[in-house]
Amino acid sequence: MSKLKLKAIAHGLFVTLTLSLSSPPAALAHKGATGIVKERMDKFKASEKATKRIKKALSQGDTAMVVAEAKFLLSWAREMESFFPKSSNQPPSEAKDEIWLQWDDFVGAIQSFDNAAQALIDDAARQDPRTVSWAFKEMARSCKSCHQQFRED
Ligand code: HEC
Repeated sequence: MSKLKLKAIAHGLFVTLTLSLSSPPAALAHKGATGIVKERMDKFKASEKATKRIKKALSQGDTAMVVAEAKFLLSWAREMESFFPKSSNQPPSEAKDEIWLQWDDFVGAIQSFDNAAQALIDDAARQDPRTVSWAFKEMARSCKSCHQQFRED
């Protein structure tokens, strides 16, 4: 093979490599979300991870970890409202119009999540394994019930 041909192949490889590196992985890009929609999607993704870590910590009896992760959820609950400015559900957002049409109900759903995260912190701090796992289930239920009402499937 000629030197020139080899060079051409190497160049082709380089272009393919840089092209594949410059398109971000779909999961990280949140399907092209930007601004406040991207910011709250990141918070929700982090909530999902926190929930998984709490589940694992519970199985290991690590109540300190449960408290730490539940505190993150509580602080998110307390700022969630401000991440939903009016009609901020342009694609690819999965937020339903009902959020703004039934704002009081939406705020109520945030409050249930807030209460459930607080109860989980309190129960984990008291270290009673039975109430902690119940409090965890209630917390997870508060995520789901808000999704059923206010998020597209
Ligand atoms: C008060 C309502 C509410 C509560 C409580 C809530 N969510 Fe959500 N969640 C939403 C809405 C609305 C969206 C859609 C946001 C968007 O696409 O703009 C969403 C989106 C998500 C997403 C998708 C994010 C993405 O990248 O597209 C995940 C994951 C998620 N929530 C997990 C959770 C978990 C876990 C909890 C509880 C620990 C929780 N949520 C609590 C309303 C809620």
